[in-house]
Parts: sequence; C-alpha cells; structure tokens
Amino acid sequence: MKLLHIDCSPKAESNSRALSAGIVAHLLTTAPTVRVTRRDLGLQPIAHAAESYAHALSSPAALQAAERTDAVRESEALIQELELADVVVIGTPMNNFTVPSVLKAWIDQILRMGRSIGVSPTGHKVGLLQDKPVYIAIASGGFFTGPNAKQPDFLTPYLQAALGCVGLHSLQFLVLQGTAFIAQDQLDAARHALVAGFDADKLGITAVEMPRGPA
Ligand SMILES: Cc1cc2nc3c(=O)[nH]c(=O)nc-3n(C[C@H](O)[C@H](O)[C@H](O)COP(=O)(O)O)c2cc1C
Repeated sequence: MKLLHIDCSPKAESNSRALSAGIVAHLLTTAPTVRVTRRDLGLQPIAHAAESYAHALSSPAALQAAERTDAVRESEALIQELELADVVVIGTPMNNFTVPSVLKAWIDQILRMGRSIGVSPTGHKVGLLQDKPVYIAIASGGFFTGPNAKQPDFLTPYLQAALGCVGLHSLQFLVLQGTAFIAQDQLDAARHALVAGFDADKLGITAVEMPRGPA
C-alpha cells in the first residue's frame, strides 16, 4: 500500500500533526507493507500559484499551450504524487474557519482542468482521478461541529467540494476541537480515543465528545 502523508501546521509539534501521525501509525499496522511519502506543506510550503501557472489556467487554449511546459511542472508533480497513493492522510489546523493557505496552495496545483478535472457533455466538472480513502485530521482552537459548535465550518464542505472535483469522494474527517480551551492531557486522551476508534471505512465527520468550551 502506498500512503501519502500530508501535514499543514506551521508548528513542528502540533495537534493536527499528532493526530495525523496516529492515523498513519494505525494504518501501518493494518497492511503488510506500506510505503509512506511525506509532503510537509506546513514546514516546507509550496509557492502560491505563479504568474505563468495563472496564465496557463486562464483559458482552455492557454492551458493546452502550457501542457508540458514549466508552467504546469509543479502541478504535474503534485498530481502524480497524489495519483500514486492508495490512501491519503492529511493533518491540518482550521484557520479562520477553513483550510490554511498552505493547503489551499496545494489544492490550487492539484485541481487542473484537462488533467485532474474533465467536463461532462452537460458542462459539469468531472473528477478524473481514481477515488481513494482520504483521512483528514483536523485540529481547531474552538468548536465547529457537534452540539458545542459556535463557529461556521467552511473547512469540511470546502474539502469535500475541492477534492470531490478531482474524483476523491471517500473522505473521513477526524476532528480534535477546542484545543485552545482543553488541557493537554484531555486533548491527548481525545486523540487516543479518535485513533483507537478509527474505522477506515467510515465517511463524514468523526469527533469525540469534548468538555464544553466557551468558543
Ligand atoms: C491564523 C490562525 C487562524 C485560526 N483560526 C481558527 C478558527 O477559525 N477556528 C478555530 O477553531 N481555531 C482557529 N485557530 C486555532 C487553531 O485551529 C488551533 O490552535 C489548532 O489546534 C492548531 O492546530 P495545530 O496545533 O495542528 O497547528 C487559528 C489559528 C491560527 C494560527
């Protein structure tokens, strides 16, 4: 099994990193041989879309002209890295209700018309990548899901739309929330509970019951 492990926190030691590492460690016990590829968007961010890439994506003709040029080189490398994986684990904090900009920069390279996205006869976008399990480990300072939610969630629906656009529909979100308010030992316990109860076949949002917080 080939596993692509992506982390997005700018902190070397972080809540989302610890959770994504727990999920990866769990998956390593389930398959006889696992080859892990690391992509650390948090500590080694990729650049935001460059001028040449933006020009390439400005029209179908420009995109066709740019195929096999340096303008789409990084996009191509990142799409191939994603294609090669049988399973993907992403660790990410919630930043201002959505994904951090380093993850958005990656998405901007992964979603490319004619390569990872096609168009149906009715004009709708169709994902061209093969579906595969994507486990997304989220850490948030406040609460955005469940009975204590007190802020909007543009993170999980956004990733569902963006990754779904390239054909990745089998998403599971594992959520460690309230990190700003909950003691580290309780966060550790919640993280262990998430990993211990991890069901690789589940889809949607999985969050553990957390002590009530003010945000
Ligand atoms: C720029 C920035 C924006 C943030 N925005 C939110 C937010 O909208 N909602 C929230 O619950 N927490 C927010 N946080 C808090 C982080 O989600 C929280 O500290 C999380 O545990 C960080 O994960 P990490 O330890 O993996 O980096 C924000 C943190 C930063 C640095």
